[in-house]
Amino acid sequence: MSQSQVWHPFTQHALEPAIPEIVRTEGAYLHKADGTRILDAISSWWVVTHGHRHPRIIKAIETAAASLDQIIFAGFTHEPAERLARALVGLAPAGLDWVFYSDSGSTSVEVALKMALGYFRNIGAPRSRIVVMEHSYHGDTIGTMSVGARGVFNAAYKPLLFEVDTIPFPAAGHEQETLDRFEAVSRDRRAAALIVEPLVLGAGGMLMYPAWVLAELKKIAEASGTLLIADEVMTGWGRTGTMFACEQASISPDILCTSKGLTGGVIPLAATLATDAIFQAHYSTDRKKTFFHSSSYTANPMACAAALANVEIWQDEPVAERVAALSGMQTTGLTRFRDNPYFADCRATGTIAALDLRTGSAGYLADIGPKLRAFFLDRGLLVRPLGNVLYLLPPYCITGNELDGLYDAIEEAGERFGSRP
Ligand SMILES: Cc1ncc(COP(=O)(O)O)c(C=O)c1O
Repeated sequence: MSQSQVWHPFTQHALEPAIPEIVRTEGAYLHKADGTRILDAISSWWVVTHGHRHPRIIKAIETAAASLDQIIFAGFTHEPAERLARALVGLAPAGLDWVFYSDSGSTSVEVALKMALGYFRNIGAPRSRIVVMEHSYHGDTIGTMSVGARGVFNAAYKPLLFEVDTIPFPAAGHEQETLDRFEAVSRDRRAAALIVEPLVLGAGGMLMYPAWVLAELKKIAEASGTLLIADEVMTGWGRTGTMFACEQASISPDILCTSKGLTGGVIPLAATLATDAIFQAHYSTDRKKTFFHSSSYTANPMACAAALANVEIWQDEPVAERVAALSGMQTTGLTRFRDNPYFADCRATGTIAALDLRTGSAGYLADIGPKLRAFFLDRGLLVRPLGNVLYLLPPYCITGNELDGLYDAIEEAGERFGSRP
């Protein structure tokens, strides 16, 4: 290939001169231009659920494209968007009756934050604070960085970020501190919303906490009239073992964000689901109460058709069984690391398995990250550690043999790069 002029995301080009070109994707694999293939153990940044290029999703896009391309979504509608909204309301936790479309996980969160503030302003009791959980990640736009963990990723943009109230991550044995802090910061009723990644904090290091904590957070939110925003951008569509992670806590958030697996990971689309109360606060003959948000590609018909095909796959194929089988294999696979001196904190929630490599250098920018990535890539495996945190978040079509190969490689990485306690 001639000299590339592409500036890649989260990429330090000075340290990564040769970026492989992918020419085909299929199932759990990325095929390179040189004829070799790479096992995609992170579902291409957590988006691909069933496997790359599921034929029904590809077909649905082709069919939609035969009659519709983008249409303005203010003042107009189309069948794929209408049908998908009905399907999402049916699948989501009860009480989320309205669907607002956008294009990415970040925009779905921006929409959620704006809905929360708009709600309180429109009912005449304005609230301005957002409560966030330590180590969270909600995206890379200014608003989503503001509600995410502060660190090297956003240090340069700090002057643009708004202030939030932070509650500690509910680490095992310290859950009550999280609940007490939330109770304290929500008591003065200035908090419009608490935003959380339910059960698993992804980019923060695949940190996991139990469902009962989420249920307790919901109770505290209700007591102070604070809205609960569940950012299910990563956790949705089966990743944590259930369709949405909130189901495991038997709660309905006031607002739910979904993207990534919404189209099976094939094409960008996001949705922010909200309760009727939030919609009604914006429903008025007073135009000032309009929900002022849009993006050009809102509810792209091909993306909505892809998402509908994804929903149908969940209904017609044994996806729940595949998720359960993968979850079981991950839990079993991790057992071999429990006594391995090079690893700590082996953990799994649903289809996601994670473990910490014991090493002198931790943190996202530690040199160990790129070294590990190169080590796995040399073995035809796409594993992208978060610093010293190794995790597997594969598409649901991955086989037991493929997973075993990944665990073997992780074991080898421990011996090569790990240090004993
Ligand atoms: C929990 C969560 N929220 C939001 C986002 C942002 O999504 P996107 O990259 O599609 O903007 C991500 C991305 O990884 C995420 O994990």
